[in-house]
Amino acid sequence: MNNTHDGRMTREGIRIHEAADFAGMRKAGALAARILDDVAAHVFVGQTTAALDDFIRTEVEKAGAVSATIGYKGYQHASCISVNHVVCHGIPGDKTLKDGDILNIDVTVIVDGWFGDTSRMYVAGKLSRKAERLIQVTHDALFKGIEAAKPGNTFGDIGHAIQTYVEANRMSVVRDFCGHGLGRVFHAPPNVLHYGRPGTGPRLEEGMFFTIEPMVNLGRPETKVLADDWTAVTRDKSLSAQFEHSIGITYDGCEVFTPSPAGRFHPTYDT
Ligand code: MF3
Ligand code: CO
Ligand code: CO
Repeated sequence: MNNTHDGRMTREGIRIHEAADFAGMRKAGALAARILDDVAAHVFVGQTTAALDDFIRTEVEKAGAVSATIGYKGYQHASCISVNHVVCHGIPGDKTLKDGDILNIDVTVIVDGWFGDTSRMYVAGKLSRKAERLIQVTHDALFKGIEAAKPGNTFGDIGHAIQTYVEANRMSVVRDFCGHGLGRVFHAPPNVLHYGRPGTGPRLEEGMFFTIEPMVNLGRPETKVLADDWTAVTRDKSLSAQFEHSIGITYDGCEVFTPSPAGRFHPTYDT
C-alpha cells in the first residue's frame, strides 16, 4: 500500500484514515472480539493453552479470515496466551491450566486487509481476590486511556491517564511494551506508551487508528524475555494482566473497533 495513493500521513508517520476505512476496521475488530467471547467456554482447569489456540485458529479459518500472528516474525500461533506472571507474548503449549490461573488471550485477525487486534483476561477455576483486583484495575486503566483518546489531546495524555490510575491503585505499568498504530498493517507508528506526561507526544487527529493495551503488574514494572525469544515475564514473578482494544479517533472522541459482542470482559463471565 502506497501512501501517495490514499489518505495522509502526519510528520510523525501516523496515517490519517478515511471515513470509509472505519467500516473495514469495524469488521475485523468484530471478528477478533467475537472469537474472544467464544473462547471463554474453553477455558477451564486442566485445559492446555495449545487447545485454546487450536480453537482460535479454527474460528479464524471458519470466518474466512487470516491470522495476523501466524508467520509474523516467525511466530507460529493464532494467539498469544500469557498465564499469571507472563506479561505478554506467551506461546500456547501443552502446559495445563491450574485452579486460579489467570490468562490473557490476544488475537489479531486480518479481514479484507484490515487488522483487528484485541485481548482480554480469563481465569481457570476460582479467581483470587488479588487477581480480580489486578484485572479490574487493568481493565479500567484501558478505559481511562480510551476516554483520553480524542482530537486535541496527545498520546502523552493517554499514557498519563493510564499511569495515574494504575499507580493510584498501587500497581505498576509495564514500560517495555506498548500499543501501536494499525490499519492495513499490524504494527505502525506511533508507539502508544501506557505512561507519560500530559501534552507530550503527537497530537491526536480524526482518522488515526491504534491500539491501547496496558500491561499492569502487582509488583514492579520490570520484565525480561525468556530464551524462546517471545515470552515476556515480570522479573519479580508478580502477577500481570493486560487488556487491549483497537480504536479509531473520530471528530469528538474515538470508536472502539473491538467491543465484546456479548458485552463481556470479566474473566468469570458465564457463557
Ligand atoms: N497481538 C500482539 C499485539 O498486541 C502482537 C502479537 S505478535 C506475535 O501487538 F507474534 F507475538 F503474535
Ligand atoms: Co496490539
Ligand atoms: Co494484541
